[in-house]
Amino acid sequence: MRDALGAVQSVLVLGGGSEIAAATVEALAAERCRTVVLAGRDVAKLGPVADRLRAAGATTVDIVAFDAADTASHQGTIDAVWASHPDLDVVLLAFGVLGDQAAFDDDPASAADAAVTNYAGAVSSGLAVAHHLKDQGHGTLVVITSVAGERARADNFVYGSTKAGLDAFAQGLGDQLDGTGASVMVVRPGFVRTPMTAHMEDGPMATTAEAVAADIVTGLRKGRHTVWSPAKLAPVFTVLKLLPRPIWRKLAASR
Ligand SMILES: NC(=O)c1ccc[n+]([C@@H]2O[C@H](COP(=O)([O-])OP(=O)(O)OC[C@H]3O[C@@H](n4cnc5c(N)ncnc54)[C@H](OP(=O)(O)O)[C@@H]3O)[C@@H](O)[C@H]2O)c1
Repeated sequence: MRDALGAVQSVLVLGGGSEIAAATVEALAAERCRTVVLAGRDVAKLGPVADRLRAAGATTVDIVAFDAADTASHQGTIDAVWASHPDLDVVLLAFGVLGDQAAFDDDPASAADAAVTNYAGAVSSGLAVAHHLKDQGHGTLVVITSVAGERARADNFVYGSTKAGLDAFAQGLGDQLDGTGASVMVVRPGFVRTPMTAHMEDGPMATTAEAVAADIVTGLRKGRHTVWSPAKLAPVFTVLKLLPRPIWRKLAASR
């Protein structure tokens, strides 16, 4: 339960090794969040993240095995988390793979694997989380989608399409939960400098995990249903979505 001043006190991170998630939990810890559950597929990698969050002020940091691609395990894993932590204020759905469009073109099965992780894994874990948030009558599921889902680009449309599906899922779930006390906040970052993009040159309006984290914390405080990060991407994509296809193709290819 959030404290009397509305500060988040407990967080579950699905994709606990994510840099955006770690920066977000660090920012929440600075605002009195004390209980953190990190769920990830490589638990050995989560130890240093847990140390970082303890240094930021978290007092309880638990680590749980969670593979987004193993959709059949999600209900049981999420139930087990709630059995140990019966009241969670925020669940941050932060896992995802970017992949490489040319590699996906050469190996369609690997493209489907990415779709399972980014989309199907979010559907099964997101619905499992929603049951618990509804039962407790409060809490926010924060879903990190991407501006890549706003309009498909030829050079990363597999990733973009998984994020478009994820964004639609999160919006629909948020509408379904309306009136229950539970909510969903969709976060649409642009290009963020994290391990996921370390091999790439900066995209337009590139930002940092810390800046996205600050936008997420503000969004939670204000009870937003959608957060663009940076905020100026909202009007930019309103225009980009209206461009005729031939112009969009040229523009997307030129970046
Ligand atoms: N960076 C950007 O420019 C950007 C922009 C828009 C949206 N996003 C989205 O933001 C979210 C966080 O990304 P990030 O930038 O923080 O990158 P990141 O540091 O690379 O985090 C991605 C995380 O997803 C985890 N993951 C991948 N597959 C998984 C699976 N099957 N099961 C469990 N966890 C899995 C990774 O775990 P491992 O360490 O085990 O691989 C990693 O911890 C992602 O959904 C990403 O698509 C990123």
